[in-house]
Amino acid sequence: MNLVRDGYTRLVRPALFRAHAGDPESIHEDMIGALALLGALPGVRDLVGLLTRTSGDPVTVAGIDFPGRVGLAAGMDKDARAALAWQYLGFAFAELGTVTAQGQPGNDRPRVFRAPASGALVNRMGFNNGGSVEVSNRLGVAGIVRGNRAAGIPLGISLGKTKATPLADAVGDYLTSFDRLAPHADYIAINVSSPNTPGLRSLQDGGALGELVGALTARAALQAPGDPLPVFVKVAPDLTWPQLDEVLQAVTDGGAAGLIATNTTLSRTGLAEADRRLADEAGGLSGRPLTARAREVVAYVAGHTDLPVIGSGGVMTADDARALLDAGASLVQLYTGFIYAGPALIADINEEVR
Ligand SMILES: Cc1cc2nc3c(=O)[nH]c(=O)nc-3n(C[C@H](O)[C@H](O)[C@H](O)COP(=O)(O)O)c2cc1C
Repeated sequence: MNLVRDGYTRLVRPALFRAHAGDPESIHEDMIGALALLGALPGVRDLVGLLTRTSGDPVTVAGIDFPGRVGLAAGMDKDARAALAWQYLGFAFAELGTVTAQGQPGNDRPRVFRAPASGALVNRMGFNNGGSVEVSNRLGVAGIVRGNRAAGIPLGISLGKTKATPLADAVGDYLTSFDRLAPHADYIAINVSSPNTPGLRSLQDGGALGELVGALTARAALQAPGDPLPVFVKVAPDLTWPQLDEVLQAVTDGGAAGLIATNTTLSRTGLAEADRRLADEAGGLSGRPLTARAREVVAYVAGHTDLPVIGSGGVMTADDARALLDAGASLVQLYTGFIYAGPALIADINEEVR
């Protein structure tokens, strides 16, 4: 028996899923609480690290040295509470957030739904987070500064638009967050692809995106002349190829360092019969139903730009990660696969990639 693989899927996951059958989000809150504690307990975290960590395949992307290829996707640690813990589960990097300039509660609960027969989740969280001041303070207290590896691994911070801020003022909203959070990040991700903030995805339109990316990269150059903080742009899987061409043009013209492909999808294709009831829930679908589309988008992006691509979407097995890397991704991120398979998935991918 593999302690990590079987321990999670046979013991930890069933207990968690049963304990919180009504609302998957409460498991999530408990898990983040436990990981925040873990990050602060040297003996315990080292033991967990001994059980779960495997060495990855190091790679340098956008000037950042990553100790492996597998990272945590945005949305799991929205408030950076567990920033110090992710390395002990085996992640080679973690993308914190999405953080908005002002704190906000997000949508009403329930807002995340499990689709176990499909290996999927549907969520409409709506950027619930404490806001850029709170998150920046927390990272400061944890001693996390760009490049200092206080968390043991590179940390990205994902930025989104505050719901109450009109779209016309989006650039200022992102810049406010950037000023507060960039000192604590190894890269910034511009999230313009969540389906759960009204109008957000329209920021992927060429003109708006070019302006947003240009403003943030200019600010990065001002903050650190000679060594500007890399800015990535995270795109939706629901764009057509002409729309994606426009995004690539804007991202290149704006001076971004790379792309993250993809966020969750509005499509409901691939939901198993047993999960069809979730087809009518508003929100983004992630996990197994997204695997093929994310791979397609990564291949398209990698084929049409020289910028590096971080692959995200439906990595449920080591083979899925391998396929995303083969499609042109330099790194991969996990969310849904990690919920269903736990840290063993990271170990499996590390083994496969090595
Ligand atoms: C509950 C939940 C919350 C998420 N929140 C965010 C978020 O705040 N920002 C973001 O960029 N992506 C967010 N995502 C999208 C993930 O980062 C990821 O791109 C997507 O789920 C596809 O990967 P997966 O199939 O491995 O889950 C969220 C996903 C889920 C399931």
